[in-house]
Parts: sequence; structure tokens; C-alpha cells
Amino acid sequence: MRSKSLSNTNFIFDNCDTVELAEIFGTPLYVISEDRIRDKCRDIRGNFLNRYPNTRAAYASKAFTTMAMCKIIEQEGLGLDVVSGGELYTAIRADFPMDRIIFHGNNKSYDEIALGVTHDIGRFVVDNIYEFELLEEIAAKQNKKVKILLRITPGVEGGAHKYINTGQEDSKFGIPLDEKIIEYVVKRAMDSSNIILKGFHFHIGSQLFDSNLNISAVNVTVDLMKNLKDKFGLITEELNIGGGFGIRYNDEDEETKPISVYIDPVMKAVNDECSRTNLNIPMIIIEPGRWIVGEAGITLYTLGAIKEIPNVRTYISIDGGLPDNPRPALYQAKYEAIVANKANEKLEKVVTIAGKCCESGDILIWDLKVPHIEPGDILAVFNTGAYNYSMSSNYNRLPRPAVVLISEGNANIIVERESYAHLLEREIIPYHLDKIQDADCDVALTKLE
Ligand code: LLP
Repeated sequence: MRSKSLSNTNFIFDNCDTVELAEIFGTPLYVISEDRIRDKCRDIRGNFLNRYPNTRAAYASKAFTTMAMCKIIEQEGLGLDVVSGGELYTAIRADFPMDRIIFHGNNKSYDEIALGVTHDIGRFVVDNIYEFELLEEIAAKQNKKVKILLRITPGVEGGAHKYINTGQEDSKFGIPLDEKIIEYVVKRAMDSSNIILKGFHFHIGSQLFDSNLNISAVNVTVDLMKNLKDKFGLITEELNIGGGFGIRYNDEDEETKPISVYIDPVMKAVNDECSRTNLNIPMIIIEPGRWIVGEAGITLYTLGAIKEIPNVRTYISIDGGLPDNPRPALYQAKYEAIVANKANEKLEKVVTIAGKCCESGDILIWDLKVPHIEPGDILAVFNTGAYNYSMSSNYNRLPRPAVVLISEGNANIIVERESYAHLLEREIIPYHLDKIQDADCDVALTKLE
């Protein structure tokens, strides 16, 4: 993997001068490296898809999705995991091959399901009986046979922030492994004339750095597969083990590892467990999001107000914050950064990088070592490719930043910067309010005179 490199005094990210990018496109700016995304996809192809027969990989588009991103993923030969009508629509508009779509979500609406059925997407991952019944109804209406996986809750607890763990028993996701519940849904699926049950899915959670939890979940799931085969003759053809492979955000995190470190032990466990229980090895599907795109992104900001509180701390405010990166406020996520126009200068003090929202929790980085800084300097925050743009908001009516895709030293806008006009685009003032405003205005003017 290409490392972040320095030249002159400006920080160069994948052959692009970040200070120049800031000048050309303005700040805040999301910068996404196409080459880094492709490097990760290549690792998946070489060390998972080509290494193990009967495997597939889908990119979890919730981490970062745009039509351009769909194109890259398509070209790299991966599938796409979507969790909403909006993500599916993005893929449809990008002409993404529909048979490579995996549709997740714990409360898909009628319209979302119908959109997927109409477009003959590859797999629905059915999360609960309510969804199963909706899907069956829609598939029957459209006279289609729909392929599904059942999402199960394997009862395995992830070790990351509790908001990004999903596999524990007390989770809103998936069908509990309670015999009565799971067997009821499996039987319904096997008996349905519009549903084809291909197998199971689990996702333990995010920011996993080893395979132990996935191996525990494999053990639980293979036992389930064996039980269902013995009881109902069900052959599990596919097992989707989700994503969650971790990346390094800062010194406290483990190194980001190649895909083989996460995958090889799990593949061994699948093999061992299936031969122990005398089952055929199912197709194994993975769906990483953050691991593919997280390190491919940086965010550029301009430094503004500097507030020094003697003997306490120095706050440096940036021209973005919580609306373009809610992760520190939501998950106490920690980031590293560099002053991009002073990349080679000696670090001399520790400061706190504050966002510009009216919100005390809008602190991007608590303690960052920086050189001598002044308003107008450019800050580059690392590893913001995953769950930043996709979780961004307009809080405080801040327009969302542009997204620039860099590739071999070239930069292309893939999402335009929002303007103030965009913020009001869908607003309507009802007629009666307009009238009252005019009247109020007259009164106010009269008083002023
Ligand atoms: N598959 C399923 C079913 C998932 O629920 C997720 C993530 C993934 C795959 C991809 O996980 P990844 O490889 O990206 O860790 N907003 C949070 C992360 C939420 C992840 C939700 N599900 C964050 O910013 O950390």
C-alpha cells in the first residue's frame, strides 16, 4: 500500500498536492484516492476470491457511496451491499449489475423491497419475519422467485464501540437463534413458491482486528446448518460473514492488516467445521466497507479562529466539523492529522481542533501536535474515507463539502459542493405564513419609524 508521503513543505497525498487541491476546490473537501480503493479490491481478489473457490465479495456501500464509487467497485469485480432504497437507487443509476446487489436492512419498506424485486437484485438478506412476509407478497405480485439469505444473530459480542457491534444476542438485527423462531422462518422460506432460501448471513460488528469473533460465529452457524439439514433436509449453499475488518485510525489502534489475516483463519474454520459435521462447504461471501475505503480518504479544512486559554489549552477552529464527520461525537472516534502546508515543519505544540458547530461536543481532535500555525493554514485529517461523507449532515445549515476523486495525480469532482441555494431547494413557505410575514414586517417597520 502506498504510504502518505511528503515533498517540499506541502503534504502530498497519492501524487496530489493537498494544498493545491484546497486552493482549487475549496475547503472543507473530501479527497478520495481511487488507487487506494483499487489496491484494497486487488488484495481481496488476489488473496480471497482467486485463492478460495466459490467465494464472493461485496463492498458495503454505506461506508461511502456515489455513482463514481459504484463504477470503481463494478470494474474491480465486486458486488455491492446496499441498505436502503437510496443506496439501491444510486447503484441502479450507475448501471451497477443488479445480480451483484445484496440488500440488507432491518426494516426495509414495501417500496424499497419492490424496487429490489423489480430490478431482480441478487440477494435479499431477510432480517425478520415481517420483512419475509412483505417480500413474499411482493415477489408473488410480480410473479418472481427471489433469492434470500436469512440474517441470524449469532450471539457473539464485538469488541468495538457498542454502537457498531451487531452480533450480540440483544441486537435489533437478525433472527434470534431460538430454535422455535429460526426453524419457523426457515420452514416458511423452504415452503414458499416465490422465495429461494440460499443460506445465512451474520455480521458481528465493525473495527474487528482478528478473526476470533467471526470464527465463533462460524461455529454457531455451522451447527445451525447441520441441525437444519438433519431436521428439514436444508442444504445451505451460501454463508455471508459480513464485513467489519478494522483499520488503524491512530496510535491506539492495531495496524490495518491485509485481507488474508482476517480471512484465512475463518476459511479454515469453515472447512474444519463443515468436515466435522459432514456438510458441503457453502459459498463464502464477505462485505467489507471501511477496510476498502477508510484509508482512501482524507478531509481538508482551513484553520480559522485560534483561542488560547493560558495554562489550559489552545483551540483551533476549522471550517467544518461535526456535520462532515460526526464520528468523534458519536463514537469518540480519534483521528490523526497534519498541517498540510507545513508538512515538514517542526511540531512545536499541542492543540485541540474544534469544529465550527454550536455544539461543545464538536471537537474533531483533542490533542494534535502541530508546527507554528496561523489562520488560513490547511489541515489534512487522515482516514476519513469511510462513514464521513455517508454520515454527513447539514447541521447548523452548513453546506456539505465537495468530494474529489484523485487518481494518478489527477483530480475529478464526483460530488459538487452544496450551496446555500441547495439548502433551500426543497423548502416551501405555505401561503398563509407568507402573508403573515408581510403583515409582521409592516408592523415592525412602522415601529422603527
Ligand atoms: N455488512 C453489514 C451487514 C453491516 O451492517 C456492515 C456495517 C458492514 C457489512 C460493513 O462494515 P465495515 O466493514 O464497514 O465495518 N457508522 C459506523 C459503522 C456502522 C457499520 C454498520 N454496518 C462507524 O462510523 O464506525
